[in-house]
Amino acid sequence: MCGIVGYTGTDPGLSALDVVLGGLRRLEYRGYDSAGVALQTPDGIVMLKRSGKLARLTEALEAEPLPAAVTGIGHTRWATHGGPTDDNAHPHVGTGGAVAVVHNGIIENFATLKAELQADGVDFASQTDTEVAAHLLAREYATTGDLSSAMCAVARRLEGAFTLLAVHGDVPHTLVAARRNSPLVVGLGEGANFLGSDVAAFIAHTRDAIELGQDQVVTITPHSVSITDFLGAPVQGKPFHVDWDASAAEKGGYPTFMAKEINEQPHAVADTLLGRTDVAGRLTLDELHMDEQVLREIDKIVVIACGTAAYAGQVAKYAIEHWCRIPVEVELAHEFRYRDPVVDQRTLVVAISQSGETMDTIMAVRHARELGARVIAVCNTHGSTIPRESDAALYTHAGPEVAVASTKAFLAQITACYVLGLYLAELRGTKSREQVGEVMAQLQAMPDKIAKVLQGLDQVRRMARWMADTRSVLFLGRHVGYPVAMEGALKLKELAYIHAEGFAAGELKHGPIALIEPGQPVFVIVPPPDEPHSLHGKVVSNIQEINARGARTIVIAEEGDDDVVPYASEVIRIPASPVLLSPLLAVVPLQVFACELASAKGLDVDQPRNLAKSVTVE
Ligand code: AGP
Repeated sequence: MCGIVGYTGTDPGLSALDVVLGGLRRLEYRGYDSAGVALQTPDGIVMLKRSGKLARLTEALEAEPLPAAVTGIGHTRWATHGGPTDDNAHPHVGTGGAVAVVHNGIIENFATLKAELQADGVDFASQTDTEVAAHLLAREYATTGDLSSAMCAVARRLEGAFTLLAVHGDVPHTLVAARRNSPLVVGLGEGANFLGSDVAAFIAHTRDAIELGQDQVVTITPHSVSITDFLGAPVQGKPFHVDWDASAAEKGGYPTFMAKEINEQPHAVADTLLGRTDVAGRLTLDELHMDEQVLREIDKIVVIACGTAAYAGQVAKYAIEHWCRIPVEVELAHEFRYRDPVVDQRTLVVAISQSGETMDTIMAVRHARELGARVIAVCNTHGSTIPRESDAALYTHAGPEVAVASTKAFLAQITACYVLGLYLAELRGTKSREQVGEVMAQLQAMPDKIAKVLQGLDQVRRMARWMADTRSVLFLGRHVGYPVAMEGALKLKELAYIHAEGFAAGELKHGPIALIEPGQPVFVIVPPPDEPHSLHGKVVSNIQEINARGARTIVIAEEGDDDVVPYASEVIRIPASPVLLSPLLAVVPLQVFACELASAKGLDVDQPRNLAKSVTVE
């Protein structure tokens, strides 16, 4: 959950400090409780680090300028071992201060290694696991005199999850890094090279990158990139081109990344559909690279994910079961591993993750593969761990999602899962090519409908502002509206720090209705009135039940649905759509409500308290 940046170049006019700080700014969403930089200069390593957000470090750098350098590393932290203090901020230096290290992940055997080093007389300046790696690297370098082999030796001793990035005072124009279970990509420049937790670290300088695999060490100079395994044997990285530019990672004129990303949702859905139909409009998933017979023979699908991604999986469950006629289970990744799941080679696991680095989901993917399952990753981040460790990947094309609370990735995940479900239905013969084509056409009409919802939300914004003091909000939905209700509640919790709960509307009378008292705000997601069974009528009855008890009913209903009007305090209209696709519309007012209410409370909607964009520890 930390941001890592490294740079080495030959242009004396391009300060390593500026490059590193620029990268850290774009990575700050990965963790923001402390930050630091280290530069390689003719006089050795110089370093500055501070607790608090990156702004505090830049203030300190203005007060205590570092000398010019063309090689350096930087880090923005999300504390795991040791609180967010100046001492615990990264980089950490080894004995003698000649080598500086930044780290993302958790070194699970650090206590043993720390005891070993302390027994050798090493003094520690911090409580972090990272400092152990710094001292080990200093000791290995003193033995081998070669930074790359020293990093290999250190990496072989570590257990857990780590991306380590190091610079040594005696080794100019060189950075060395090692990765296991934690993200690291190489940026390829002209007379310069970069390292980063993800491509945002160097997107302002290059869009050509290399993704690194598990248990690899990379050594970069301004003119070379060499990659080995932990034993020093050369291996090949996988080059890729980043399809979004630096400006996309900025706010684009919106007040917050959250607002920008909510408004990018029509493009996120449209782009996720792009390239997945052939000239005749037929669905094609060439990138899936999975044996069609294997897919024909699966007898169960298990979706594993966390948080918002899990709610996307729950929406997809209704659609995929309906289209493919095989059972779809949705499991929270952190529960999946420990419940002795029934999984075998006929199980298809779909791992949904925006970051591709959620450790709970990574570990669940590994467990599923050990049990013989095939795994397809639905992911938004190229070069990340989950797709790399899966049998196949179906990328969402939502572009960089910087705000910690997920919005456009949620819609893109649902869209990608719909496409996967339709592909499987056609492959298995439960849907004809024509039927699949019909649903794809309905899907391709959704971006315009999402845009229409976005244009009509002034009422939601007004409501959010005068509800800024509310202490509790409930969300009700049925069928695919149920995961939408839970996602709406999650958005309000994580953005506005308000207690919120999503319920299946049918569950209300089995207990939660006791929560209803006069004035209690309740959002109700109403299914399309014309869906085949009486779902709509039952939800209208639910609205009546809570309205009769004084609830403030805020109803999300299709244009023209007048049945809800007598029982609704507010009606938020969305365009008509097929019930299975309706979550792509119904969730948008809930996102905007949470964002606006949090803003009305003066809260940081892009970096809410206690959260990080990518939870890379279990
Ligand atoms: C979403 O608003 C949350 N920040 C969180 O639940 C997130 O969806 C979850 O941590 C999974 O992240 P991932 O999609 O990157 O795996």
